[in-house]
Amino acid sequence: MAIPHDGDVDRHTQIILNRYADRDNIKLLHTAPNVLIERYLAKVMAVDEIAGKTILELGAGGSQYVPIFLGNGCKRYYANDIIPERLNVVRRDDPRFVEKPGDFRNIAVPEPVDIVFANLTMMFLQPLLNEFVVRIRESLKVGGSFLSYDANYFCPLSIYRHFRTRGANPGRVFSPFRYARAFQRNGFEIERLVPLTAAYNWTTGNWLFGTSFWLRARKL
Ligand SMILES: C[S@@+](CC[C@H](N)C(=O)[O-])C[C@H]1O[C@@H](n2cnc3c(N)ncnc32)[C@H](O)[C@@H]1O
Repeated sequence: MAIPHDGDVDRHTQIILNRYADRDNIKLLHTAPNVLIERYLAKVMAVDEIAGKTILELGAGGSQYVPIFLGNGCKRYYANDIIPERLNVVRRDDPRFVEKPGDFRNIAVPEPVDIVFANLTMMFLQPLLNEFVVRIRESLKVGGSFLSYDANYFCPLSIYRHFRTRGANPGRVFSPFRYARAFQRNGFEIERLVPLTAAYNWTTGNWLFGTSFWLRARKL
């Protein structure tokens, strides 16, 4: 289905831009890197896998994963965000850190990358999902991986949080399984699809109690 357009920006992207209209006020979470690794990333990826890899983060504005990728020896890290100001808070003085501001669908990715990473971003892009999956595929090397972490709406707590949100909300209630199928249709193999509430390890694998989920998909 075509997304309605008002001028240069499609209407859904305009909702995203409206959400971040106050560009001087960027909230940054501060989770200790070891906690991010142990409770989150380790569910889908070992840190050893980062060394030597080229990584592109979609929606990198405010990302807490930048020090983890750079600190664990990635070869290059491309930081992409549609709101350039949101990259100000993650910028690093490191030759491997390369900024790619702009709509991910339109940026020129300088080289096919090993990993495309998206944290709490794909949940904002559901109405545009197919366009993004196609671009993610184009950005990856064959055998490269796409990793995303988003809200799991099979969990009642996530539904509650969704409807409690006030103001411009680009988030849409969606099925992780339908989401995974969009990748399969576009030539990916699903390697992991895992619900979790990070602080509660017992929720890992439980679609009712895991507030979020990881997808890991490999480009065939
Ligand atoms: C909820 S925030 C998550 C930010 C960050 N990944 C984190 O973990 O805190 C979603 C991010 O996606 C970005 N974004 C939304 N649409 C985008 C697009 N079309 N291209 C690139 N970035 C986009 C937003 O500007 C925002 O920074």
